Amino acid sequence: VKRVTTHIIQEMKNRGEKIAMLTAYDYSMAAIVDEAGVDIILVGDSASNVMAGHETTLPITLDQMIYHASSVVRAAKRALVIVDLPFGSYQGNSKEALNSAIRIMKESGAHGVKLEGGLEIAESVSRILAAGIPVMGHLGLTPQSIYKFGTYTVRAKEEAEAQKLRDDAAKLQELGCFGVVLEKIPAALAKEVSESIAIPTIGIGAGQHCDGQVLVIHDMLGINKGFTPRFLRQYANLHYIMNTAISGYVNDVKAKDFPNEKEQY
Ligand code: KIV
Ligand code: NA
Repeated sequence: VKRVTTHIIQEMKNRGEKIAMLTAYDYSMAAIVDEAGVDIILVGDSASNVMAGHETTLPITLDQMIYHASSVVRAAKRALVIVDLPFGSYQGNSKEALNSAIRIMKESGAHGVKLEGGLEIAESVSRILAAGIPVMGHLGLTPQSIYKFGTYTVRAKEEAEAQKLRDDAAKLQELGCFGVVLEKIPAALAKEVSESIAIPTIGIGAGQHCDGQVLVIHDMLGINKGFTPRFLRQYANLHYIMNTAISGYVNDVKAKDFPNEKEQY
């Protein structure tokens, strides 16, 4: 199989083919995601929530991101693997940002990194790009700034914030990013940005006009019970399927039905 590259991602936008991105954090899940034809696997810092059970993405460390990323890389035969730089690993100064990105590339074998923010992190983005590392931007709802926002509600509804987002998207393109995630912003704004920049936009809760879409795999598979924001389409109810399977196992063990004669040596 031919590896998806950042160039192929750009060509997809150029010819109007939508880009499918999903998160994965471990080998077994990433193998299924890759086999199913996902173009970009994001090793998101949402691992902090769905893998580790933290309330926010802030606690996850660079070492933990590298552990998740290296597991995903071993499974991904076709997909482009992009890894989130975690909170605290790039905002301080651009030298630290570069070191963090280099550690991810060297120690996990991933193909690029994603950083949250626009103008504020321009120096870090440039420095990472100058080292030959592909960078994806992330604008709109940026969960590493949750304590600044206060809530996980839709961003950039007011004109001032919308204008900053347009400027940030243009800046990220100018710096040389290969794409940008737009999270939880009005569909009309995402459409405008997607049409005004040449690099692909990947939306989550940003409407149908983005050049691609991304979801957190645990959410779209319905593993997390009760997380049902408007933007989420649940493609399965794995919580129900797994609960049924596991309680069936418990019952069989208690009833002395498992293992049976054929299931032993
Ligand atoms: O960490 C993550 O899963 C993400 C996506 C939701 C874009 O950043
Ligand atoms: Na993230």
